[in-house]
Amino acid sequence: MGENLPSIRILHDTDTAGDDSTALMMALKASNAILEGVTINCGNVAFDQQVENALYTIEVAGKSGKIPVYPGARHPLIREWETAENVHGNDGMGDSGFPRANQRPEQKFGVDAIVDLVNSAPGEITLVATGPLTNIALAVRKDPSIAKKVKRLYFMGGTNQYLGNVTPAAEFNMWVDPDAAKIVLHSGMPMTMVGWEICMRHGLVNRSELDEIAIMSTAEAKFFAAVNRRAVEFTKEVEGRDGAPCPDSITMAIVLNKAVATDVRRKFVDVDNESELSRGATYVDHLNVLKMRPNLDVVYAASERLFKEMLFRMLRGEPV
Ligand code: BDR
Ligand code: CA
Repeated sequence: MGENLPSIRILHDTDTAGDDSTALMMALKASNAILEGVTINCGNVAFDQQVENALYTIEVAGKSGKIPVYPGARHPLIREWETAENVHGNDGMGDSGFPRANQRPEQKFGVDAIVDLVNSAPGEITLVATGPLTNIALAVRKDPSIAKKVKRLYFMGGTNQYLGNVTPAAEFNMWVDPDAAKIVLHSGMPMTMVGWEICMRHGLVNRSELDEIAIMSTAEAKFFAAVNRRAVEFTKEVEGRDGAPCPDSITMAIVLNKAVATDVRRKFVDVDNESELSRGATYVDHLNVLKMRPNLDVVYAASERLFKEMLFRMLRGEPV
């Protein structure tokens, strides 16, 4: 299917745990994606564990040694780093106890990898951020000219209307490093935001789909079931919904196939990095009351059917 879609050069910036690994797997299996590298950002679980999770995902995809993994920012710009082992397990992978991958991380700093890659191919590199935006912010600070050279940044983060998952107002990726988000949102980079409500509305793998996946025998399906085990329990406990949230992988699906996003609107969006109460809250000016120049494309709706078709192709071991 992906062979009919335009080819995309991707750099995946991730706090690899749970659904980040599914997003990465989709990029690794997409016939229209050239995955240039993976950069790791502080987010879900301990930093070096996230690096290992990315390396192991690459190994499961059969691409060991082929995709470089660059460790990036080990802590948010200013704040204390708070992780989410309660959501994804201590290893971030549903406490699966996976073996150590053969591939080792690169020496090069992830932020430098972003700057160098974008400068090496102006207008060609799509950044996909499925964690906090620390690395992207540091890259823009190091070389502001990259903002105009990135083809587009797609990020999973924020909320369209404040359905927060870490505080009533804020989504985890924005909340961990709101100062980085502030820099990125005002960088002038072409950007698309995929917020938490959209992901929960269109990107939840439900109980009957989980049961279907549980009896599939591919390495990809077994991997998916394992890494999401803890997140499924958490979602049931906290949200009362029986399923696996896939915010990062629906974001990757939108990158791979634009048709997955069915309603995208250009808006002015800001993020709160000043108050404690609404730390990391994204404010989408739906009605243009602020009369500011729009800075983001915001996804308002997505095709659950298309996303799940892509996900299930990947889980069956077929090209996405
Ligand atoms: C985000 O937080 C992480 O736990 C997920 O991977 C996703 O990127 C959702 O708020
Ligand atoms: Ca993530």
